[in-house]
Amino acid sequence: MKQFKRTTVTSALPYANGPVHIGHLAGVYVPADIYVRYLRLKGEEVLFVGGSDEHGVPITIKAKKEGVTPQDIVDRYHGIIKKSFEDFGITFDIYSRTTSQTHKELASDIFKTIEAKGGFVEKTSEQYFDESAQQFLADRYITGKCPHCGNENAYGDQCEACGTSLSPTDLINPKSAISGAVPVMRETKHWYLPLDQHEAWLRQWILEDHKEWKPNVYGQCKSWLDMGLQPRAVSRDLDWGIPVPVTGAEGKVLYVWFDAPIGYISNTKELLPDTWEKWWKDEDTRLLHFIGKDNIVFHCIVFPAMLKAEGSYILPDNVPANEFLNLEGDKISTSRNWAVWLHEYLEDFPGKQDVLRYVLTANAPETKDNDFTWKDFQARNNNELVAILGNFINRVLVLTNKYFNGEIPDRNRFTSYHKDVMYGVYASKFELEKSLSEFKFRDALKQVMDIARIGNKFLQDQAPWKIWGHDNDQVATDINVCLEISAILAIVMQPFLPFTSRKLSKLLNLDVYNKWFSFGIDKDFQSSNIIWARNTVEDFGKLDYNKTLLKVGGYINAPELLFEKIEDETIAAQVQKLLDTKLANEAAAYKPSPVKENVAFDDFMKMDIRVATVLDCQKVPKADKLLQFRLADGMEERTILSGIAQYYPNPEELIGTQVCFIANFEPRKLRGVMSEGMILSAEDADGKLVLIRPSVKVTNGVEVK
Ligand code: MF3
Ligand code: ZN
Repeated sequence: MKQFKRTTVTSALPYANGPVHIGHLAGVYVPADIYVRYLRLKGEEVLFVGGSDEHGVPITIKAKKEGVTPQDIVDRYHGIIKKSFEDFGITFDIYSRTTSQTHKELASDIFKTIEAKGGFVEKTSEQYFDESAQQFLADRYITGKCPHCGNENAYGDQCEACGTSLSPTDLINPKSAISGAVPVMRETKHWYLPLDQHEAWLRQWILEDHKEWKPNVYGQCKSWLDMGLQPRAVSRDLDWGIPVPVTGAEGKVLYVWFDAPIGYISNTKELLPDTWEKWWKDEDTRLLHFIGKDNIVFHCIVFPAMLKAEGSYILPDNVPANEFLNLEGDKISTSRNWAVWLHEYLEDFPGKQDVLRYVLTANAPETKDNDFTWKDFQARNNNELVAILGNFINRVLVLTNKYFNGEIPDRNRFTSYHKDVMYGVYASKFELEKSLSEFKFRDALKQVMDIARIGNKFLQDQAPWKIWGHDNDQVATDINVCLEISAILAIVMQPFLPFTSRKLSKLLNLDVYNKWFSFGIDKDFQSSNIIWARNTVEDFGKLDYNKTLLKVGGYINAPELLFEKIEDETIAAQVQKLLDTKLANEAAAYKPSPVKENVAFDDFMKMDIRVATVLDCQKVPKADKLLQFRLADGMEERTILSGIAQYYPNPEELIGTQVCFIANFEPRKLRGVMSEGMILSAEDADGKLVLIRPSVKVTNGVEVK
């Protein structure tokens, strides 16, 4: 394995057209941050680059919808996104944006260099043009009927009803989304990156030289390469983006996927105007891209081909992409508001950044898509963070105070048993580093927790509360070992649970904490957490089986709980919030069925609809759907069966309420019971049936007309 001098870590630049949610965090930013923090803790030279992706068609569409400019949209969301990342302790060295001047210049320069080297091919093709708006139409700006499912509102790139990806010419009756006009075909020239010409070296570089890439990444690259690469257009006819910097390209901008990855480089340049090149052009620099699976082709094939065509840049050494995180069984979706937004999470769970970081890492979609559920969130908090980690630390701190007034006791009776326990702790630490080096963050987190498990078991086995008073030297030694394990935990948990690590360092009075505390940076917890992370370098270097972190005779601080139990009501409220979203989406998507053929007044009058009061209502045995009603209909009484049982789980609650029913509906036998009429219900957008009843109580037997 090649030895590198430094590491450049990038994480995908999120589109600045909405806030960020748990899927972003789980897939990209938490793993990248864990990795970067870990490298810093080892004292390695590392740069962590982030930023917002501010070009592309969806941003222009959102702007148009809101009647504002694309710049307004990106200004708004860049701020929100940047703040969310800060709040969650994502320790970017820079978080900038692709509308920056530095970026515009660098993206143009790279385009010009490739152009000058003959790295593009120019091609003219026919594309849809809107004559009334006088502009070419991006795929998303054309709507029409889907040839597969008949949905009238399919987009030129995709039908959202059936999920098929389309090209604009597939649409039946295409229309411009800008003016509504029927678009015409017109010739336009574009610049293409001839990926076909890059195929040979890409095959060698990925399929032969990088067999160590994660199977999901390697597999996706292989299938792209095996399908054969096609030239890709890197320019667009659009008025939002970086102008194509050559003559004859008026009105054209760089394709968003051409400029965005260059953003990694320009953001580095913005931060380090004099030394940025060593992070991007030195063969001794290791480049890593953290991304989600939908970005794999761009980072493993398109961007490397761009960099190769330019000629002076290094290529990524690894691209540890994750799969997707779903939410309660459904795909996370910004447009359907099916997400847990980071800023909303923090409103509902203030101070609980680490709980989310923990759950998203423990359940990260590393090898396959995974599901986030609020139940799992609660279980992991209560059964793991509280019951294992928090419990261990709390017991240790409380016992230290109780027996030694907070002073770190000596280990006079350190035996081979204690040695074995510490050996176990260091074995977990070794495994944890191995997992991190392989981008196996779930495993690594498990190994952190294993250290806490070892501590708990040790404490339980030794039970110092049983020997206190008989053998206080033994108790002192055991507590010393427990405190040492706690200090090791404070360091190894830092990449995963930075806020908790900081709190624990303070409780234990660790040097790292005191060093930064003395600089007075403790005032603003969030940003100082980030400064702290950037500077607590080499703490991993202090972890040594043959040494101790804590000094005998030092004092710890008063105990505080690291985690607290999350109650059922809190979780139920979150689940309810999602159910409300689902209902709102269904209502918004509801299309009333077409109105039936007209009926004459006389025909309507043939229907005898009346009001009755429910005397009794019960489930019909062995029929899940049926309720049996006994009604007071103002005449005698009658029995009606109705298929609404699943919507009224407590049928006895209906007794005494009124319903409407068709009195002259032909009687039918259902499950051996004669049903004398039909009870009227409305069918909601989600298929749920609700009973129709008069808005105030009326006399039984009156007619509805
Ligand atoms: N904005 C893209 C997305 O959210 C990611 C861009 S990554 C970059 O899918 F490399 F292009 F910056
Ligand atoms: Zn369709």
